[in-house]
Amino acid sequence: MSKNFYITTPIYYPSAKPHMGHAYSSIVADFFARFKKIDGYKVYFLTGTDEHGLKIQRAAEKKNKDPKSFCDEISKTFENLTKTLNLSNTDFIRTTEDRHKKSVQNLWNILEKNKQIYLSKYSGWYSVSDEAFYNEDEVEKKNQSKVSKSSGSIVEWVEEESFFFKLSEWEKPLLEFYDKNKNFILPESRRNEVISFVKGGLKDLSVSRKTFSWGIKVPSDGKHVVYVWLDALTNYLSSLKYPDENNDLYKNFWPADLHIIGKDILRFHAIYWPAFLLAANIEPPKRVYGHGWILSGDEKMSKSKGNILDPLEIINIYGLDPLRYYLLKEVSFGNDGNISEEKLENCINSDLANNFGNLCQRVLSFAEKNCSSTIPKHEFNNDDLVILKSIKDIDKIRSFIDNQDINQYMSFIVDRLFASNKYFNDQEPWKKKDDKLRLNTIVYTAIELIRKITILLYPVMPQSTVKVLNAFNINENQIDFLSLQLDEVLIEKDKINKLDILFKKIDK
Ligand code: MSP
Repeated sequence: MSKNFYITTPIYYPSAKPHMGHAYSSIVADFFARFKKIDGYKVYFLTGTDEHGLKIQRAAEKKNKDPKSFCDEISKTFENLTKTLNLSNTDFIRTTEDRHKKSVQNLWNILEKNKQIYLSKYSGWYSVSDEAFYNEDEVEKKNQSKVSKSSGSIVEWVEEESFFFKLSEWEKPLLEFYDKNKNFILPESRRNEVISFVKGGLKDLSVSRKTFSWGIKVPSDGKHVVYVWLDALTNYLSSLKYPDENNDLYKNFWPADLHIIGKDILRFHAIYWPAFLLAANIEPPKRVYGHGWILSGDEKMSKSKGNILDPLEIINIYGLDPLRYYLLKEVSFGNDGNISEEKLENCINSDLANNFGNLCQRVLSFAEKNCSSTIPKHEFNNDDLVILKSIKDIDKIRSFIDNQDINQYMSFIVDRLFASNKYFNDQEPWKKKDDKLRLNTIVYTAIELIRKITILLYPVMPQSTVKVLNAFNINENQIDFLSLQLDEVLIEKDKINKLDILFKKIDK
């Protein structure tokens, strides 16, 4: 049976061009997608843009543009970013597409048919920036305005006729669902947050708006548009051609294995989304992982705060792979993290130039001079077997990935890089010119170590690692995680191709 894996990023608001926070969610998702691919899974990886609602309508008005052409323009910058970040996404969805509209309206009809939706009147607080309704106890006065306590964004008073979803009926079933699916929400601290929020009581949720028109029409009442979060969350189904539940995409990939999201949108994914799905008799996703924020100083990076670090500028200066490596290794996954040029430069020098780059360059140039750039003969001794064995335990490595423990995965790699550099130093092949077989074996072992570590680094830095593997005639589509179990993949006498310097040390 083939193994399938469905992973998603949040779909981004095209209200302004992408920033480092968006890049972070996407890079994390790409990391998991690529790992699963080399572990033999068929991977469906979805990203896209979330284009309806008042937030976008107002952003378009500010620029004197109609919302659709405004979205066309900015959505393109997000789509371009998928290329710049070298994402391996299978699809890029826009919520203004017909396929999505059809899917949302169908879900709405089912909810209505299942008596989960009724017409009433909403009066309460609404944050356009978060596209969220807030209770009185969730807002506070700050300076002259009312703001959300959790996000700090300004809320406005709304009173209008609205359709409601019977969220209150789902309090118990949701708690049961969380209990049965202990890892549905990760990390654990966020799971606890969600559970205590649900235990505090759920009120019915307003799921339509009537005072503006930029959205998907409610099928049974064209004066209303569907609440942008019910619209947006459904993207995860639309891409699989829902409502056609018999097509292969839907059959193979739903329920989603992993929604990667930021902690700011946990409530929508961990409460509303499974409630909508359970109410429509659709199986909820298997896991929602809420990561932390990328901070600038102590604050969340966001357009409204004007403290944005532009991923494109950073990539232009330092290259993509160092940025991916930094975000995956230096940010403690699940918690907030920081990025600055200084920290990035330190990381490039210590980890990439001095550790990974150094290992590749010194071993390959030694092989060029002493083994005429071919894979040498070998006869392993115990030292060689011990170090090769330290990168063999695929179950352990897999479990890092399946628990979304990116930091353990990264420190495993860094550890093995140090150990491999040390192995090459300690074995002193340059002193073995009289014992050609031993010299050759040390080089062979070191090259096998590079092969294995480079495979592990592939999901982190796809471009540079493919260059390294190409030096051993391994192409991108031949990268196979299972081959970590083997120590003699490279074949004697095969040519070793030239490898240019991977990471330049930055003078400071
Ligand atoms: N459109 C909604 C998501 C709908 S998903 C069905 C949305 N969009 S957003 O553009 O505002 O943000 C999307 C995601 O970008 C956040 O959840 C988070 O994953 C990421 N980030 C935005 N700013 C961030 C940081 N400063 N740091 C890390 N990630 C953050 O919400």
